[in-house]
Amino acid sequence: MGGDSGSDATFDLVVVANRLPVDRVVNEDGSCTWRRSPGGLVTAVEPVMQSYDGAWVGWDGGPDGPEEPFDENGMRLVPVSLSAPEIEEFYEGFSNGTLWPLYHDVVAKPSFHREWWESYVRVNRRFAEKAAALAAEDGLVWVHDYQLQLVPAMLRDLRPDLRIGFFLHIPFPPLELFVQLPWRRQILEGLLGADLVGFQRPGGAQNFVRLVRQRVGHKTHRDLVYLPDGRTVEAAAFPISIDFAGLAELSRTPAVAERAREIRDQLGNPRHVLLGVDRLDYTKGIYDRLRAFGELLADETLSVEDAVFLQVATPSRERVDEYRRLRDEIDRLVGRINGDYGRIGRPAISYLHSSYPREEMAAMFKAADIMVVTPLRDGMNLVAKEYVACREDESGALVLSEFAGAADELKQAFLINPYDINGMKAAIMEARSAKPRELARRMKAMRKTVQSHDVTAWAQQFMGRLAEVRPEHRKRLRPSEGDG
Ligand code: ADP
Ligand code: F6P
Repeated sequence: MGGDSGSDATFDLVVVANRLPVDRVVNEDGSCTWRRSPGGLVTAVEPVMQSYDGAWVGWDGGPDGPEEPFDENGMRLVPVSLSAPEIEEFYEGFSNGTLWPLYHDVVAKPSFHREWWESYVRVNRRFAEKAAALAAEDGLVWVHDYQLQLVPAMLRDLRPDLRIGFFLHIPFPPLELFVQLPWRRQILEGLLGADLVGFQRPGGAQNFVRLVRQRVGHKTHRDLVYLPDGRTVEAAAFPISIDFAGLAELSRTPAVAERAREIRDQLGNPRHVLLGVDRLDYTKGIYDRLRAFGELLADETLSVEDAVFLQVATPSRERVDEYRRLRDEIDRLVGRINGDYGRIGRPAISYLHSSYPREEMAAMFKAADIMVVTPLRDGMNLVAKEYVACREDESGALVLSEFAGAADELKQAFLINPYDINGMKAAIMEARSAKPRELARRMKAMRKTVQSHDVTAWAQQFMGRLAEVRPEHRKRLRPSEGDG
């Protein structure tokens, strides 16, 4: 911490993300409780923040929440309140109705509305003001994800002393798609407020630098952008990861092993358990994956004695039309497949909407013979890495879309093109029939990769590079006493 620990304290490290790591839940009696927020950003950034004395600025997930800072799990959390219209226009609208589909290969059609953009600008400004008030002199502010791309430049205007990093958790699109955005120049200029702009894949960084050169007109050389005021901005790939050691340790506990056995029992002890775990999002390829499984049952390549599919799909962004439609479509497909191929007490697909604690997720990963990860486009996909972390005995197969960032690292997975249903079916069958030695060879290599590039390494690489941009800050940021 830079100042005292009261409500006007300042911090050497401030993380700014759309969501806090916890969502505020208002109970029926009006009391409030906090629940872990969904998604990969929280999974990755929370363990990093727990080892630094930093503050986390974000929204509490509901309308008109209080802005009083509070401490949770060793972190200072500083809420930014959003009104109901802001949730509609900034979060559901511009963030998830415009940017999300545009940045994911336009797998759904993006909508462009001027009011949504205006709300995005206003809300980004509030996040920037909050971060400016919290950061200690010469501190580091790390801004995250597509919801907050204007924050770096707004913050630099308010606090030129700060070192500012930005990390995009989702893909950054090719020039040909990005230029559809009516506010493309403002977004690029917003990001250029940062000293370092991080992406999941090298292609994202290259797309960004190319756009800046062509559309904003700044000089660039490789991954560097030269601004007229003498500042340089670096763009580079920092593939995000998981707390491998923590999850591996959890998966080794007797309670998790016992629960994994119980899950298989409850599924009727089929020879093979297939597993999918996703937010219910149209980018995740859930529909096509289940369709492929349904076809394998239809053509009798598989039977329900052979294989059961456990699909966990947490509802997400439920007021956005595309997401509602998807939920209905998947409900219908699951009903049809279970109706056609299930037996009494043995549905072909066990389909669950709940959110689970980490122990239960680890038990599911441990129980599954084949993990099926088939996004049409995904920044990284941490679920794929989590599965690998839970397979200490080196059994199990990962079927992975080549359009997930994770495919760059997990090269020993059974890689598939999620648009190719026959290819997906063939990969599932290849994974099912692979010899234990072959599976162990693949799993061993993938585990080594994730273990040596865990989330701590990711954060250290990002912050280390940021320190090199402005070396005078390097000595200030150290993990807090006694931590990693
Ligand atoms: P995204 O960020 O797009 O949601 P990722 O795969 O990168 O996708 O991250 C999802 C994270 O959310 C993972 O850490 C995963 O374990 C967690 N998760 C997904 N579904 C659930 C669920 N039903 N209950 C608890 N955690 C979940
Ligand atoms: O990774 C993309 C992302 O938007 C993250 O910011 C977040 O972890 C996750 O998806 C959940 O999305 P939302 O905050 O819209 O529920």
